Amino acid sequence: MNLKTSRTPLIAGNWKMFHGDHSGPELATECVKIARVTVDVEIVIAPPYTALAACIAESRESSMAIAAQDVHSPNQGACTGEISAETLKAIGCCWVILGHSERRRIFAESDELVAEKLDAALGAGLKPIVCVGETLAERDAGKTRHVVHSQLSAVSRLLANASVPVAIAYEPVWAIGSGKSANPKEIENVHQAIRGWLTEWDPKLATTARILYGGSVDPDDAASVLACPNVDGALVGTASLQAASFAAIVRVASTSVTHTAPRKSGA
Ligand code: PGA
Repeated sequence: MNLKTSRTPLIAGNWKMFHGDHSGPELATECVKIARVTVDVEIVIAPPYTALAACIAESRESSMAIAAQDVHSPNQGACTGEISAETLKAIGCCWVILGHSERRRIFAESDELVAEKLDAALGAGLKPIVCVGETLAERDAGKTRHVVHSQLSAVSRLLANASVPVAIAYEPVWAIGSGKSANPKEIENVHQAIRGWLTEWDPKLATTARILYGGSVDPDDAASVLACPNVDGALVGTASLQAASFAAIVRVASTSVTHTAPRKSGA
């Protein structure tokens, strides 16, 4: 059996610092329309904190879910400027992006800190999208697998014990926001390696976890990326900032489902 067909494709839009104002719920409304006409793809959007509550309100009564872009690890206490997993869950967030390379790079987030955040997120019942990926220098030095393996090893036990669906996003740092996506062969190689490690850590996790690709995914290259056997969806930045391009990627994901086989509900 092609196990890919048992995992619902997941397309997640990472808005970063964009649409944090009134344009956030407006775009969320457009994304809800996309979700209404899409039955076989799970759609998630990750607005900035300031637009979370408004986007959650817009997405009520729809299948689209809302993600936060980060979380603080302790659940309460004095920590100016931070938001806890329990608060995110309480306002209606379902997902959280963790360990994005921008956070690892700009805020020096270590593998250990990402693991602490994952622990907090899982404890609150948030579904995680854990990001991993190598820099250009690491890629050029032939260290891609080593880097991705050690980033994932730091969270392997938590992922294996998770009681909610989990997703991993492989995002080569050099491909993010560069307009230069990795080629499908490179993507599939890394995704296959990730699937193999997940199998070693927990065979069930390997069949249920969705492994997304991220890094300059756009409507033009989505088909070749999503056709890779071990790619279960995409984490989309720039192309998620406009409803038309996000919808086009969701349509490609939906077509790839019809072209393979009927998929059962998500992981
Ligand atoms: P991009 O961003 O699609 O603009 O490359 C992806 C991401 O950072 O998650």
